[in-house]
Amino acid sequence: MDTMSRIAALVSDCAASLWPDAQGLPAAEELRGLLAVPPDPALGDYAFPCFRLAKPLRMAPPKIAEALCAAWSRPDVASVQPVNGYMNFFLNRANFAAEIMAELREKGDRFGASDIGNGKTICLDYSSINIAKRFHIGHLSTTMLGHSLKRIYDFLGYTTVGINHLGDWGTQFGKMICAYKKWGSREEVEKGGVDALTALYVRFHEEAEKDPSLEDEGREWFKKIEDGDEEALAIFSWFKDLTLKDAARVYDMLGVTFDSYAGESFYNDKMEPVIQELRDKGLLTQSEGAWVVDLSEDKMPPCLILKSDGATIYATRDLAAAVYRQNTYHFDKCLYVVAYQQDLHFRQVFRVLEKMGYPWAKNCVHVAFGMVSFEGEALSTRRGNVVHLDDLLTQAVEKALAIIEEKSPGLENKQEVARQVGIGAVVYTDLSNNRIKDIDFSWDRALNFDGETGPYVQYTHARCCSVLRKAQDQLQADPDWSALTDDEAQALLRLISRFPDVIREAADKYEPSMITRAVTDIAQAFNKYYYEHRILDGEPGQAAARVALTDAVRSVIKTGLYLIGIEAPERM
Ligand code: ARG
Repeated sequence: MDTMSRIAALVSDCAASLWPDAQGLPAAEELRGLLAVPPDPALGDYAFPCFRLAKPLRMAPPKIAEALCAAWSRPDVASVQPVNGYMNFFLNRANFAAEIMAELREKGDRFGASDIGNGKTICLDYSSINIAKRFHIGHLSTTMLGHSLKRIYDFLGYTTVGINHLGDWGTQFGKMICAYKKWGSREEVEKGGVDALTALYVRFHEEAEKDPSLEDEGREWFKKIEDGDEEALAIFSWFKDLTLKDAARVYDMLGVTFDSYAGESFYNDKMEPVIQELRDKGLLTQSEGAWVVDLSEDKMPPCLILKSDGATIYATRDLAAAVYRQNTYHFDKCLYVVAYQQDLHFRQVFRVLEKMGYPWAKNCVHVAFGMVSFEGEALSTRRGNVVHLDDLLTQAVEKALAIIEEKSPGLENKQEVARQVGIGAVVYTDLSNNRIKDIDFSWDRALNFDGETGPYVQYTHARCCSVLRKAQDQLQADPDWSALTDDEAQALLRLISRFPDVIREAADKYEPSMITRAVTDIAQAFNKYYYEHRILDGEPGQAAARVALTDAVRSVIKTGLYLIGIEAPERM
């Protein structure tokens, strides 16, 4: 429990024992929200305004403050003083430091980990790229948010299933095969990979404007895939392999993995029972030849299930996928990390599942996020204004290398560090704001070693490692925790003590950016500490305590970065 929650709980106990019969006293949680940090440090580390208790107790706030302070029995946590209706707390800094340091040393790199998720399963649908399309910067957020959430849930003890719900179904693949048969060659596609496939697709549309009969040919090829025609399937699965090989390069660079690649086509033979079920439950109605689930009661447009030609669509596959995932993994939650533009789609799908009578429908969550623009320019496929993710990452690594060459020319394995820093800079930018906010990516901002950036946090981690490498002697003495009672050490310890709560909150809100914020705050607080205090010098007990604090910062930053998918080099 962090310090503020602890104090709030103690105040709550104190009030309850003073006034056992009072009605409407606020709970500890509300009290915590009321605790404030006084603007003047002379008034204590925290202050509790007693006004909130005036009404339920029918007492004047100054009297309440006096009564609470008189009854306070935990000088080991904080000493207290009533001032003008406030209960002011002066932390017992040495005890606080000793407690949190003991916990850090006991838990080591598992500080912040938990078993609250034991026995529970979370499915995460993320990245979910489309076949025959290059991995572009628009897919960065889903990939990194999903990857980070998976690590966070793993750290909290959940069983997680990472699913790449591939976009590997649709009429466009018929068109692509048609174009390939007409104008493509095996060598060209092997060489050009996904770019060659995209070029074929563009060519198809150009030619089809002149000759609309091509559209029919494209549809026929798609029908062949659906009917399991050998040639069509062979070409299609080759396209798929090419795309996945391309994507694997990006996933490798980012360190991202999946447990399943079951995409849209995986559900080809799993939709019929779902459609039958919808029919049996009287949920399907016909509308202009198509079959839909009416959602007018929910003020949503109908959810299209079968087109008039009998073809299934994206939503049909998502219904089948949700049922399959529940039956296969028995998830406690299924998260869909997908751009906010698909908000209506997911509201419709979840509502249909609910109407089918599945109580677990409420455990399906659309984890939406905003758009990424690049150096102020929106990305649009139509204008050809797409930033390919592998190009972006490669550039990031090159730029990081140039900075490292300048800053630390003597560094060993510069290439490896540049890779960690360049990619860290991109990932940090992506996970630094509330996910629903749009992001503008800029090189200057992402790679600024002094700003709130990935490289800055990584650099702080490397700084801790460097101090620790020089600290062999200091590790011999017994730490004197009262050496950690200065303002800078206490600020740092408070941030660290909140870290486990931050991880849980990030999981509850599906918001990795809270961890990004926390590691950044800790890095800043450490650097302040580092400039104000000499860590290795001084009397042995003090030096040992300061070195232990440095080691705690190192460990917490490393964990935090890991949870948002960023590596932590030991030298930079
Ligand atoms: N492939 C889709 C896209 O790129 C995202 C799929 C998301 N997952 C899902 N189950 N619908 O837009």
